[in-house]
Amino acid sequence: MSQDMSQKTAPSNDSRRTFLKFSAAAAAASAFRIVNEPFLAAAAMERKRSQFPPGAVVINANENPLGPCDMARAAVVAQAPQGGRYSYWLTDELIDTFAEQQGLKREYIHVFPGSSEPLHFSVLSFSSPARSYVTGDPGYEAGMEAAKISGARVVKVPLTKTYAHDIPAMLAAAPDAGLFYVCTPNNPTGTLTPHADIEQLVAKKPKDSVVLVDEAYIHFADGAETAMDLVKAGQDIIVLRTFSKIYGMAGLRCGFAIARPDLLAKLEHCGGWSALPITAVAAATASLKHEHLVADRKLINSTVRQKTFDWLSRNGYSYVPSQTNFFMVDTKRPAKEVIDAMAAKNVFIGRIWPAWPTYSRITVGTQPEMNAFMAAFDAVMKNAKSVSFALPAADPALPGDLRSSRHDRIDADGQMLPAVR
Ligand SMILES: Cc1ncc(COP(=O)(O)O)c(C=O)c1O
Repeated sequence: MSQDMSQKTAPSNDSRRTFLKFSAAAAAASAFRIVNEPFLAAAAMERKRSQFPPGAVVINANENPLGPCDMARAAVVAQAPQGGRYSYWLTDELIDTFAEQQGLKREYIHVFPGSSEPLHFSVLSFSSPARSYVTGDPGYEAGMEAAKISGARVVKVPLTKTYAHDIPAMLAAAPDAGLFYVCTPNNPTGTLTPHADIEQLVAKKPKDSVVLVDEAYIHFADGAETAMDLVKAGQDIIVLRTFSKIYGMAGLRCGFAIARPDLLAKLEHCGGWSALPITAVAAATASLKHEHLVADRKLINSTVRQKTFDWLSRNGYSYVPSQTNFFMVDTKRPAKEVIDAMAAKNVFIGRIWPAWPTYSRITVGTQPEMNAFMAAFDAVMKNAKSVSFALPAADPALPGDLRSSRHDRIDADGQMLPAVR
């Protein structure tokens, strides 16, 4: 055997190590997927991508029934004929518009097709087997799914009695933290974490860790303060914004990560630099330029929500007083039973969080949709056998995720998810 051949057939230890490293990376990359609200909502119903029955009331995924505003729709139509071109300058225009409105430097803004990508990329960039991922409980689950890919320990910290993130407890629970996720208003409770608490987290967090503040629902809330001032101050913080909620563009896909350029650069390494759908970008710019959109829609949502809350109170049902376009209602028995009974009445409500097993999340729809919800809920609940459940019941010592070999699926926070292959 020639020297050449032996080198080809018997790789050195170094190249074997390199190969193994790349194979592991490739395996991780092949398992990578973006988990988001429609995925979780469909998984909770085990219905995947099938359509809802005719006339269904769909209030399970925190979507906005109003859809994009008129100006955004016109922008989509105007851009459609240009769909054969990348037209990068439209993204620049969106960045410039947002930068001017928020007093941000344009290099602190990165546009994504929604906020799910930067959420996942943040977890991949800043958490690892050595640096844990810290989140509120109950909280939005997408980051926990991403932490399975980064290999990070997931630290779930129960919310306070006022349903805020318990910042001192989050700090105490994870001296090895790589990423703290603070969703405010929080999904699924719709409640706020005060700005002062986020400041405290930024000031006291372990060195080199990053705070990720998800402001997906901030426009619906009264008195919510953005954390973008901490970005401007150069802190280790990333703020997420999406056009999926108040702007009604979940199906069009557009969102922002707002952070120091060095932090944004880390996210770019995960997701590359991809062109954006120009219809979505043009619709997002038009939405930002709409002077009354946020105020009008906030009022519509809070009016329908308050009527629903008043009805729930009058009828003796308890709920968490949310500031957003969704709320948690106490079903006083395993919430899955109520979700299934509601579905049988063609009203599709949201999910369960294991920390609160007798609660289900309801999205605020239109008034007619909420009228249908109230009628169906009353009928279902009148047949219900109550069980008691006191909040907060979350035990941080309990593992959040269990693996079910029978179904070969991952039960993550009450969701039956297809296993990653
Ligand atoms: C808290 C929170 N963050 C992020 C997202 C992601 O939304 P999108 O990818 O549509 O921007 C959602 C979706 O519902 C959410 O609830």
